[in-house]
Amino acid sequence: MGLVIATVNMKGGVGKTTLTVNLATCLAKNHQKRVLVVDLDTQISATLSLMSPQDFAKARKTRRTLSHLIDKAIRPNIQSKLAIKDVIQPYVCTIKELNLLPGDIDLYDEYLVSEMLHNKAVSEEKSNFSDVWNHFEKLLIKSILEPIIDDYDFIILDCAPGYNLLTRSGIVASDFYLLPARPEPLSVVGIQLLERRIAKLKESHNSGTSFNLQLLGIVFILSGGLIGRYYNQVMKRVTEDFSPNLLFKNRIPMDVNVAKAVDSFMPVVLATPTSSGAKAFTKLTNEFLQKVEAHQNKVQNHTKKMNLANLE
Ligand SMILES: Nc1ncnc2c1ncn2[C@@H]1O[C@H](COP(=O)(O)OP(=O)(O)OP(=O)(O)O)[C@@H](O)[C@H]1O
Ligand SMILES: [Mg+2]
Repeated sequence: MGLVIATVNMKGGVGKTTLTVNLATCLAKNHQKRVLVVDLDTQISATLSLMSPQDFAKARKTRRTLSHLIDKAIRPNIQSKLAIKDVIQPYVCTIKELNLLPGDIDLYDEYLVSEMLHNKAVSEEKSNFSDVWNHFEKLLIKSILEPIIDDYDFIILDCAPGYNLLTRSGIVASDFYLLPARPEPLSVVGIQLLERRIAKLKESHNSGTSFNLQLLGIVFILSGGLIGRYYNQVMKRVTEDFSPNLLFKNRIPMDVNVAKAVDSFMPVVLATPTSSGAKAFTKLTNEFLQKVEAHQNKVQNHTKKMNLANLE
């Protein structure tokens, strides 16, 4: 079964989308992993980093975006023959293993969601509206991905800044989350706030199905010059605050090629593979795979121990 990874940080502009699209591309191109990028952000940055606006407009015209799948979840009675497999774009950036579930500038209407859940609560005679809401939130992204989860090794969710319904639903559907951040004092506070919110989410969504989300690691986006020197001081504090295995050793340097790549509708690892940014993402992908493998070995050893304990 594919591993679902959410790229999250409540702070905006910290490199979530850049990390998502470059990691996904390296996993597909260099490691032949089957990867799906899911754009959960109405800014559609991940979508436009991987396909041209013209191709996106065509997809949107034929309702082949995430918006349609969310619509089906909110209004189950709508007539539609389009399934998730019809919406996914194959051969993204001409890489066979790289697929994209395009986002949309309108993904859902909060009022419609609230109305639908209110009606549901009334018809099912549920007095606790928050239970109905939590149930919907827990299953929304999970149920959209369910039919295709076995088709991929990795499904990477590019979350919007903030902490909206889709981010929460994406987090609940994930096995791991990645946290890109800049080493600034407020960023560090942001990381701790997010961790607290995720712990709360685990508490409120943990009934029934298992929800064992883990932080795979924090990825730092560095900077050069004077600000870079200051960042290094903050980095020292960060390494004291977080366990070393939660920090990616590879860091991403600021590199103009990373920002420029968006103009060619492809990630920097394809647009300028010899640039410092591209090289850093390539190395980071190797470390990502090592971290995933280490987690999986830990789970296997734990299961073995449990089985042995049951035999005794
Ligand atoms: N290593 C880098 N070097 C240079 N520019 C970068 C780098 N990483 C990201 N950027 C640029 O910084 C901007 C913000 O990056 P990105 O869109 O990845 O952040 P984000 O966290 O996804 O933002 P949002 O919260 O709005 O979704 C973009 O213009 C991107 O091209
Ligand atoms: Mg983004």
